[in-house]
Amino acid sequence: MADFTVTPWEVSGTVDYQRLITQFGTQPMTPVLLQTLGNYAPLHPMFRRGFFFSHRDFDLVLKDYAAGRGFFLYTGRGPSGAMHIGHLTPLLITKWLQDTFHTNLYIEVTDDEKFLVKGKSWNEISSQAEDDMLDIAALGFDPERTFIFRDSEYIKNVYPLMLKIAKKVNHTTTKAVFGFTDQSNIGITFYPAYQIVPTFFEKKRCLIPAAIDQDNYWRIQRDIAEDLGGLKAAAVHSKFLPPLTGPAGKMSSSQAETAVYLTDDATTVRKKVSKYAFSGGGATVEEHRKKGGNPDVDVAYQWLSIFLEPDDVRLNHIHDEYRAGRMLTGEIKQLLIDKLNAFLAAHQQAKTRARPALKKMRYTGTLAKKMWETTFV
Ligand code: TYM
Repeated sequence: MADFTVTPWEVSGTVDYQRLITQFGTQPMTPVLLQTLGNYAPLHPMFRRGFFFSHRDFDLVLKDYAAGRGFFLYTGRGPSGAMHIGHLTPLLITKWLQDTFHTNLYIEVTDDEKFLVKGKSWNEISSQAEDDMLDIAALGFDPERTFIFRDSEYIKNVYPLMLKIAKKVNHTTTKAVFGFTDQSNIGITFYPAYQIVPTFFEKKRCLIPAAIDQDNYWRIQRDIAEDLGGLKAAAVHSKFLPPLTGPAGKMSSSQAETAVYLTDDATTVRKKVSKYAFSGGGATVEEHRKKGGNPDVDVAYQWLSIFLEPDDVRLNHIHDEYRAGRMLTGEIKQLLIDKLNAFLAAHQQAKTRARPALKKMRYTGTLAKKMWETTFV
């Protein structure tokens, strides 16, 4: 059996996603569910192509919506280091869900969590948090229906609720779920209560888009939600965007050669992809022409298929040409470089104009104002 680890703070090895469904006790994303979802809008490629492979109660979310009860969205980001394109995948699907269902969205920026687990100063974490919020605002969430908050800033509105949650969770549980030990600092053992807080922001069902590494929190939430008079949180889980140096593990900001950062310029992207992108191609051009490439492990192909090439016809063409050895490694890498650079240039432009939207999402929009006026107990 392949060895791999998936926790909120570590992903390593070749992840067996089917085994994770069993281990974590989640549900596979089924064609029937996707068909129902597809009734509301043409499916996002990350749904269509199985990148979001697992869920909890997503069927109930869609039922709630159909019955007029609605639902709300919640996701988050931990400002530990520069944001990379892997961090964007849950946010992009969250945007698609908000655009499709016109729901409220809560985005938690966990400056506390990252200060507690990373060897960085508060000032470093703090400026990273501010920069991340601009990146997030640049993605174009509805500023009137989105509330983005930094944990350290919003704490006074949620502290009573956080205490209620903390009182229900003991060390035996968090040791088993997160692998905390007697050496874990007391801050991080309390932190999970905060990540659970937003699941109770509304009396509706909460749907959380994230990669599967965050599921540990939802498991605890689901154990205590009904005792606290709330609903069990629902989730859609993605796989990990493979590191550039792939195919195993995940893109990680603490290993620079594995990541493409949102701030990378065109030359950096070209150099990184040319030098590091793990190739499924043959060792020599002759071998490649003869035996073909393997798109299943080729990182350029994987990234294109996950979100950078939304057109199925073009993607299938790339797949077949590469598989047959007619398209070379250098050529598929060039396709990736072009897509990445177009995507990043548009994002970087949007970020320069994102301040007004961020202000609304944080303080002055309809939802943000309401959230600052509410104390959660
Ligand atoms: P963080 O900052 O580690 O990650 C932010 C989001 O990105 C996902 N992610 C990835 N997705 C695909 N490929 C990757 N290589 C990859 N690396 C990270 C994570 O699953 C996450 O969705 N504790 C959280 C912050 C948080 C949160 C939440 C996240 C608070 N509340 C609710 C999701 C939902 C964290 O540190 O995320």
